Amino acid sequence: MKTILLGVSGSISAYKAADLTNQLTKLGYQVDVVMTQNATKFITPLTLQSLSHRPVHLDVMTENKPAVINHIDLAKRADLFLVAPASANSIGKLANGIADDLLSTVALALLPTTPKLIAPAMNTYMYQNPITQKNLTTLKEVAGYEEIIPREALLACRDYGRGALATIDTIVEQSLAALKESTDEKSES
Ligand SMILES: Cc1cc2nc3c(=O)[nH]c(=O)nc-3n(C[C@H](O)[C@H](O)[C@H](O)COP(=O)(O)O)c2cc1C
Repeated sequence: MKTILLGVSGSISAYKAADLTNQLTKLGYQVDVVMTQNATKFITPLTLQSLSHRPVHLDVMTENKPAVINHIDLAKRADLFLVAPASANSIGKLANGIADDLLSTVALALLPTTPKLIAPAMNTYMYQNPITQKNLTTLKEVAGYEEIIPREALLACRDYGRGALATIDTIVEQSLAALKESTDEKSES
């Protein structure tokens, strides 16, 4: 069974991670969820635990399995790393090697061959901000991430523009494509 490591950060669209977790789990993937503390203000860990049938990971210093170090174990077991939704803050941390919570620490520990997808979701000015764009470029060009481009829509903040989380169908489709590509590459080598 393939494992998808799903990072959920503090965006208003974090509630959509429930549908995403549900769909990926029903497709037969093991979904290991890592949430930032701020994500837990938008959706409960219990919801994602119930839909993934797996423990949800929240804290880099919580070590429930003495035989392993959790952030390294999560990173090594991932067949795909998917951050959805990705907040501007978490994108900035991932792009700059900051590892001050579980999500950003796991991201640094991923194997170079693990496919990595990032689905930004934020206000359109936050998304268009050159700093956010530079961070996304760094993630793509330096760390091998693929961006799941946000949609143009009327946003929760009532601005209209690009910044809405891609549809769950799009995220699932890109996740399956990334997993297939990585499996094909492994079987060719
Ligand atoms: C109601 C509300 C909605 C928010 N929505 C977003 C969002 O969609 N995208 C985003 O990047 N930040 C959003 N923020 C701000 C983030 O939650 C904030 O930057 C936080 O530090 C992100 O932390 P994290 O990346 O550790 O989860 C929102 C904040 C509030 C109060």
